[in-house]
Amino acid sequence: MITRLHVNGRDTALQADGERLLLSVLRDDLALTGCKPGCGEGQCGACTVLIDGKAVRSCMIPAAAVGEAKIRTAEGLEKDGKLHPVQQAFLDADALQCGYCTCGMVMSAVALLEAHPEPNDEQFLAAMDGNICRCGVYNRIRDAVRIASETLAENDR
Ligand code: FES
Repeated sequence: MITRLHVNGRDTALQADGERLLLSVLRDDLALTGCKPGCGEGQCGACTVLIDGKAVRSCMIPAAAVGEAKIRTAEGLEKDGKLHPVQQAFLDADALQCGYCTCGMVMSAVALLEAHPEPNDEQFLAAMDGNICRCGVYNRIRDAVRIASETLAENDR
């Protein structure tokens, strides 16, 4: 049984069987439905969240395994009512079609840009390769990550 998870900057109380998958606990117990169930095998990336800044497939990890680590989900990205620059860039670049993969894509992109603010192609592919978009808007996703990288650099000036 787990009684607490640190999610989106807050210690959150809950009562959940720690053997349950993190994806299920986030969605069903905490109503954080940005992370989506897809393949259930760690292959599609729809369920991606960040744990201590690393992109993790929440369909592959029991909730109890997270321990005290800090979980971030798409719901925790906006600040003061403003979308995170990566979220805004996905909108600006029209980098979604059905939207099912988008939160997972965004979380992988956030992890990428936090580790590599100006990612080269190799770094981009290494970070985003495991996120599948069935609508195939990969070029626009690449554009969105570039736009977000530029925006974050401007914000840092
Ligand atoms: Fe987790 Fe596909 S549902 S990677």
